[in-house]
Amino acid sequence: MELSELSWSIRGTLGRKLLKKSLQYEGVVDFTLGDPDIPTPDGICDAAIRSIREHKTRYTAAGGIAPLREAVAASMSEETGLPLTAENVAITIGATEAIHLAFRMLLNPGDEVIIIGPSWAQCPNNVLLCRAVPVIADRFTEGFLPDIDYLRSLITGRTKIIVVNSPNNPTGTVYPKETLQAIAQLAQENGICLFSDEVYASLTFDKPFVSVAHWCDRDNIVVFGSASKSFCMTGWRVGCVISEPHFIKRLIKMQENVAICAAAPSQWAALEAITHAEEYAAPIRDTFRARRQVLLDALKDTPKIRFCCPDATFYLFVDISQTGLDSLTFCDRLLDEQHVAVTPGLSFGDAFDGYIRLAFTLNDDLLREGACRIRQFIESLNS
Ligand SMILES: Cc1ncc(COP(=O)(O)O)c(C=O)c1O
Repeated sequence: MELSELSWSIRGTLGRKLLKKSLQYEGVVDFTLGDPDIPTPDGICDAAIRSIREHKTRYTAAGGIAPLREAVAASMSEETGLPLTAENVAITIGATEAIHLAFRMLLNPGDEVIIIGPSWAQCPNNVLLCRAVPVIADRFTEGFLPDIDYLRSLITGRTKIIVVNSPNNPTGTVYPKETLQAIAQLAQENGICLFSDEVYASLTFDKPFVSVAHWCDRDNIVVFGSASKSFCMTGWRVGCVISEPHFIKRLIKMQENVAICAAAPSQWAALEAITHAEEYAAPIRDTFRARRQVLLDALKDTPKIRFCCPDATFYLFVDISQTGLDSLTFCDRLLDEQHVAVTPGLSFGDAFDGYIRLAFTLNDDLLREGACRIRQFIESLNS
């Protein structure tokens, strides 16, 4: 069987590769995946079970069940100040499918998408799946804020979209209002559409989260959300896309052909989550805030690494450049020698080979144990 060129354009993510390799060892401390170990809250699970018992197990409308679309619109209206209705929302199979479909809606082969880096790997991969060109904007100022002049310099006649991801995976940075305003203005001036990936919006610890949608022309912005991280629902696969009704209507047509709809019980579960959002999200956020501290404390005296305290998410992006190892070698050796799995910075763009990402989706004991082994590994590099 001869595979298509398109199928070869996508490489597996480096984090998953490391995870696969780690299966050969016992007792690995695994910091690789952004997949919380915390169970989905009971109330959310109960809503799904109820929906199954009530036989709500058939296809739903392609755009999602009406009450969920309405609830997402109400929640986003509150956040952005925009008057949104269910027509502005489509429910998808996680934000990943939403992003894929939205790229498909706008991109022709050869178009360019500027992705503000560092960026999770699936974003450029989905651009490639449209035969378009991902351009990672990989120059930043203090605290991983994008360099706006550099961003401007990357714009060409083929640039169709700029992708913003704040709070950011992998740095945990929340962009301040001024940065978001500058990005929105840049997009507006150049007639470029802005994609705002906001899947970590509810996992903000210190700085308030603001959506870039505040400063965008309504016709120029597409926002992505997800139940995955906020409510520990990664495996349920529910996300959403928010934009103008004419865009959403066409996107739903595409969804109808790609997947028909998101799983019905998952949508009922997500409805329970979003209609009691703070009740479910607050304890999850508190857990990650506490874990962030555990990890920062455990790593603080480790030589040759540097990191900033993340404002949000459950990721710590660590500068390992002083060890003299590139990120793949660092990760391979750390796994072989200390049985700790972390994600190489290279996964987030070529410019980030001097970093590794640690997901603190582990309990406190494992965080301390993992940090201790990382320290032992780095100390062993001198001997
Ligand atoms: C920045 C970012 N966007 C989107 C996603 C996809 O989330 P979902 O589980 O909703 O598909 C992830 C998953 O890790 C992510 O890190």
